[in-house]
Amino acid sequence: MARITASVYTSHVPAIGAAMDLGKDHEPYWQKVFSGYEFSRQWMNENKPDVVFLVYNDHANAFSLDIIPTFAIGTAAEFPIADEGWGPRPVPKVVGHPELASHIAQSVIQDDFDLTIVNRMDVDHGLTVPLSLMCGKLDPVKDAWPCPVIPFAVNVVQYPVPSGRRCFKLGRAIRKAVESYDEDLKVQIWGTGGMSHQLQGPRAGLINAEWDNRFLDRLIKEPEELAKTPHIEYVREAGSEGIELVMWLIARGAMSDHPPRVRHRFFHVPASNTAVGHLILENT
Ligand code: DHB
Ligand code: FE
Repeated sequence: MARITASVYTSHVPAIGAAMDLGKDHEPYWQKVFSGYEFSRQWMNENKPDVVFLVYNDHANAFSLDIIPTFAIGTAAEFPIADEGWGPRPVPKVVGHPELASHIAQSVIQDDFDLTIVNRMDVDHGLTVPLSLMCGKLDPVKDAWPCPVIPFAVNVVQYPVPSGRRCFKLGRAIRKAVESYDEDLKVQIWGTGGMSHQLQGPRAGLINAEWDNRFLDRLIKEPEELAKTPHIEYVREAGSEGIELVMWLIARGAMSDHPPRVRHRFFHVPASNTAVGHLILENT
């Protein structure tokens, strides 16, 4: 039986990827951000999963405004790195896990969640920056990511976006799907994006560290209650792009009902326009 061993939560700021790609990660500004991931890289080495189920959002790179799936599961064998306007990031291509992804699609769709099945998809900073943060700098050709990755894209860009409650329940359906897969696989689920940030309009630059830290506390201790937060509160308190945080509830919903072990917690302001939050929770 496959099982979810741990969940990882992290912001996905594109400038973090650029800082790594351009070798600026030791500069004082960036060093403060990357210091929060030193433990995580060691933890990844020591707790290597067989598959990462990576919940993220596409930023109009794979999906344009022509077609906007609310939840899209990547079932391909490989996912090329998206060109976001300045060439694809120099990181290894993402290798998928079509068998487990198809099984999860089958189980979750039969459990009444409408997933879009995606057999071809470029992956943008929403997916590659969390991988880089957790795995370190890798050669795009000579190296590979430590394991296959199933990309799971959530629409948090174009309204209407899914509620936190639905995301939490979807996480539970994903857990059930993983636990009904026949092979002994250790699966990590990652929830990415956030924390507070607003990239547009009169409130551009908004950061709300107090709200973010309370979100982290509640994500650990009372996720089901937290999931009831209406989307307007995310927008009001955490900025228009703070809504990315509903994706963390998918990962949290996929964890066991027992309290998790908090292996790592980090919060830092700012990276680019964003408050960086990061958690590693292990199933006990
Ligand atoms: C920034 C953050 C994001 O989540 C994003 O998708 C783009 C930019 C930023 O902080 O600059
Ligand atoms: Fe984003």
